Amino acid sequence: MTDQATGTEAAPPGKPTSASRTTLSHIMTHADTNLLGTVHGGVIMKLVDDAAGAVAGRHSGGPAVTASMDEMAFLEPVRVGDLVHVKAQVNWTGRTSMEVGVRVLAERWNESTPATQVGSAYLVFAAVDEEGKPRRVPPVLPETDRDERRYQEAQIRRTHRLARRRAIMELRERRAAEGLDD
Ligand SMILES: CC(C)(COP(=O)(O)OP(=O)(O)OC[C@H]1O[C@@H](n2cnc3c(N)ncnc32)[C@H](O)[C@@H]1OP(=O)(O)O)[C@@H](O)C(=O)NCCC(=O)NCCS
Repeated sequence: MTDQATGTEAAPPGKPTSASRTTLSHIMTHADTNLLGTVHGGVIMKLVDDAAGAVAGRHSGGPAVTASMDEMAFLEPVRVGDLVHVKAQVNWTGRTSMEVGVRVLAERWNESTPATQVGSAYLVFAAVDEEGKPRRVPPVLPETDRDERRYQEAQIRRTHRLARRRAIMELRERRAAEGLDD
């Protein structure tokens, strides 16, 4: 990875988690199904990326691109006629990147039964300038104990992402140095 963050300017002032927290809701129809008749995972992933992107844009005050999506878990099938709520918030901020945590809930569109959690995901967004280069993001200010726990857990995921990436790069460099080609 390069360090191309725009300039060496100080970080913008911090923003509380609630300032960018967002919910995106959508009723699932037959156009959203897979061959089994339940909702296609890719439809849910698109909603997750959309909601997380809105949060990242709001928090960073400008464009932000998806750098990675990990731990997308599908806990229960989603059905036609489900009203799906995708809830997203900034869990953690670095210099130019943000981790956005997303929970996906579903309830029948015409019943007043409680919504159940059907999925979750963690996405990393990089804030970018008009040339697509990473730019500074405001530090997120956790407001509740739950926000604080999410911040700490996101730091653990960040550490693991960097370590995994570094280990793979080192392996590739070693193999290339030994003349091994894929
Ligand atoms: C994401 C992107 C801007 C990163 O650019 P880069 O030159 O690697 O820049 P950097 O190495 O400075 O990384 C910028 C930040 O993103 C983070 N990042 C970059 N790649 C990452 C990845 N795969 N996973 C997690 N974080 C990542 C870095 O850790 C850094 O965070 P920090 O500043 O908070 O420490 C660039 O790879 C890109 O434009 N990718 C395409 C994004 C896109 O089009 N998404 C939509 C998919 S269709």
